[in-house]
Amino acid sequence: MLDNRPRFATRFGVIATTVGSAVGLGNIWRFPYEAGAHGGGAFLILYIACIAFIGIPVVCAEFVMGRASRLNIFGAFRTLAPRGGRRWAVVGGMGIMASIMILSFYSVVAGWTIEYLWQSVAGTLADIDSAGRHAAFDTFTGGWRCVMWTIVILALNGVIMLGGVQKGIERASNWLMPVLFLLLVVLAVNSLLLPGAADGLKFFFTPDFSSMTADDVLAALGQAFFSLSLGLGTMMIYGSYFSSRTRLVRSAATTAALDTLVAITAGVIIFPAVFSYGAEPSAGPKLVFEVLPDIFNHMSGGSVWSSAFFLLLLLASLTSTISMSEISVAYFCEQWRMKRRTAVVVNFVLVASLGTLCALSFGPLAHRTVFGMTFFNLFDFVTSNVMMPLGGMLISFFTGWILDRRILESELSPTPRAIVRGIAFSLRYVAPGAIAIIFVNGLL
Ligand code: PHE
Repeated sequence: MLDNRPRFATRFGVIATTVGSAVGLGNIWRFPYEAGAHGGGAFLILYIACIAFIGIPVVCAEFVMGRASRLNIFGAFRTLAPRGGRRWAVVGGMGIMASIMILSFYSVVAGWTIEYLWQSVAGTLADIDSAGRHAAFDTFTGGWRCVMWTIVILALNGVIMLGGVQKGIERASNWLMPVLFLLLVVLAVNSLLLPGAADGLKFFFTPDFSSMTADDVLAALGQAFFSLSLGLGTMMIYGSYFSSRTRLVRSAATTAALDTLVAITAGVIIFPAVFSYGAEPSAGPKLVFEVLPDIFNHMSGGSVWSSAFFLLLLLASLTSTISMSEISVAYFCEQWRMKRRTAVVVNFVLVASLGTLCALSFGPLAHRTVFGMTFFNLFDFVTSNVMMPLGGMLISFFTGWILDRRILESELSPTPRAIVRGIAFSLRYVAPGAIAIIFVNGLL
């Protein structure tokens, strides 16, 4: 174990970094369109149940493994599993590959937010009418400009990563997260004041389980996983930087609560606006990029609101990309003994190359497919539907069944025994079982 490993300096820093990882495109871009497509209020309730009964225990499992080993996911499995953990290390290897692949396509979408921010500030976004919005989105995502923005995101990410754990990641999160919360509140208040806001709120907060299907349940569980950054070792690497005094269960619950609060606030921003201007809540992934600009266009001071919104999305995604990079950078430093600077550069080169393939998947490389999918779709599919759930299932199985029970209990203390038992029960039965169901269904 490495004793000179960095630690997050403050309790605020612990929460800012873990919430920084969890809150991202998943909350503000993905959550509203998933909720819109899967029944609004009923989806919200299912999502909250998945976060509470499966998400929080798996975050605890990652924290426990990280802090007990003080290593990256690969090293953690090797030290914590019996007999050198050669087999379990494969799960670690999968997490590292997944983090590189997720970052490759996630930075493309994060790059889109820079373009929309740019156009909002320049006022050109307001020049396009509803009819031209779809074509404008297609033209932009089909060109080379989005490659440039992907590289810009990765460069910004690299600069923060070079600063290291305390001066880079923690300091950036300490600044970015409060700004993000402030922007969210301002945008939510603005949406609540729109005429017709009540219809949007009704759609979002009134559950109707009568038309609920198994598919909606799976969507809620998948969303909970994506949103809490689970299954790759993100929370594990951050847990490895916690001090021995950090309370794991409390931190996991706070992270999950704030992450959910942001998702709900994103819904409160988006649905009143969607209903107020007669848009479709089930518009899918384009909800944020095609529907919202249109809505902003109808509002007074629209370009100010749209600039604020896309800035929010950019900041949120940036802190998430940092947590993805830290998985592989820590792995290169700890397992391959690279200097941090070298590791950051290696990671940048790898992700920038794969990210370029993903960015071009909507234009020049749209016809290059692997298993019938573009690079972007392939990376998204393989990570979200295979690697994340499989990783999450194995991490919970490992901490529930294989890891020495004393390690689990001592890392989780001081927490009331009943809660520790509940977490252990979920890690043994509920989480692996439920995840196995999404995994199988995701592949069908
Ligand atoms: N949780 C992040 C979001 O909601 C995405 C993410 C996934 C971050 C995996 C890190 C690892 O946008």
